[in-house]
Amino acid sequence: MVTTAVNPYLDGNFAPVHKEITTDTLKVIGELPDDLSGMFVRNGPNPQWKPIGQYHWFDGDGMLHGVRIRNGKATYRNRYVQTKGWKIEHEAGKALWNGILEPSQNNPDGLYKNTANTALTWHAGQLLALWEGGAPHVIKVPNLDTIGEYTYNGKLKSAFTAHPKVDPLTGEMMFFGYSFAPPYLQYSVVSASGELLRTVPIDLPMGVMMHDFAITENYTIFMDLPLTFSPQRAQRGEPGIMFERDRPSRFGIVPRHGSFPGSAWERGDIRWFESPSCYVFHTLNAYEEGDEVVLIACRMNSTTIFASAQDTHADPQANITRLYQWRFNLVTGAVREEMLDDVPTEFPRVNENLLGRQTRYGYAYKIGQGLIKYDFSNGKSQTHEFGRGRSGGEAVFVPHPNATSEDEGWLITFVHDTREDISELVVVNAQDVNAEPVARVLIPQRVPHGFHGAWVSEEQLSASV
Ligand SMILES: [Fe+2]
Repeated sequence: MVTTAVNPYLDGNFAPVHKEITTDTLKVIGELPDDLSGMFVRNGPNPQWKPIGQYHWFDGDGMLHGVRIRNGKATYRNRYVQTKGWKIEHEAGKALWNGILEPSQNNPDGLYKNTANTALTWHAGQLLALWEGGAPHVIKVPNLDTIGEYTYNGKLKSAFTAHPKVDPLTGEMMFFGYSFAPPYLQYSVVSASGELLRTVPIDLPMGVMMHDFAITENYTIFMDLPLTFSPQRAQRGEPGIMFERDRPSRFGIVPRHGSFPGSAWERGDIRWFESPSCYVFHTLNAYEEGDEVVLIACRMNSTTIFASAQDTHADPQANITRLYQWRFNLVTGAVREEMLDDVPTEFPRVNENLLGRQTRYGYAYKIGQGLIKYDFSNGKSQTHEFGRGRSGGEAVFVPHPNATSEDEGWLITFVHDTREDISELVVVNAQDVNAEPVARVLIPQRVPHGFHGAWVSEEQLSASV
């Protein structure tokens, strides 16, 4: 059968760009604030070559899109993350690895390609490009050259989540790695200076896809949600990965350093809390309040992200992400789950200077429309609309360098105008999100839809290794 259907993940603004460009000063509509100084970098999938077999959005090679802002002016550059797999395929002039929707191949250079395509984080003087199945890659700033895989002097023993958490007060970074085979979950703490202090296994009944987690001042919270891996299922010809709606959601709370010898946790003091079946890609934040640990995240009732007939039957709420809050009582063991808003949102963020602490505000992508700012003190929200025919994604909150309040700063994201087929970097005043953007930087090449970004401050740029 001849099919002309285009894979949606290779079409429109999902389609890759193939030129790496470096611009001079760009045209700005509005005004870039003088106090906004640093670099916005966003990661996302951008297949170097025509994919083999079925292509999933998660498969593409990582490409970084960076906008350097200083003295009211902006320049742009985009660069592939030059991973080992990217280099091998670059030499070959074609794709050699297939994607997650195809059976894994016996590729001599590794079963999977670490695409480094998902997110970015700044820690201990360096920018890391992340992919949850493998090691981070160090990226030089501001030129976005790839230095290479980073394994903490060989101490990295697990995969590395795309969503590590840096404690804004101690500078420590917490991360985890999940696996199809035991140990299904490993938890690590990195010191402020970048030394991997310890990695410990955490027992799970079976392998699950775990995309994110959360921290509070004293605890780390893991989400054991029923998007499960099963080699046995795969052997029977059933989906190796599927959402099992009959299994509950489990949230594990462990003291941050509880995994060290002699600690409470080593004596078995991880606390598990159960709630109805769900899936969560992204947490907004978590914090402690009295006897409770509070987690806020975008929850979906079920997911068909790795669609297969067995796990898709008729859940009208499947894949719809909404902001929820869970309260885990460490004394009574009670769990309270509550929907905070019925508007579909994703890519939630907070002012990361308050990560792990209670924030008054949260920010998210309002699906298909714009950005939403939540005020948790009164349950109200405000929306910034991108406008007709314009779509965007995750906004990163950039604090004002001399901020005197939590929301003093800007929300920054790329927006694509479908009708003109052009992209802009949009800067919104976080204290006035209803208003027009304070600045729109016109990018002379389309920026495809992507995943997560990071703001690298002027201070970090000058201190980078
Ligand atoms: Fe993510």
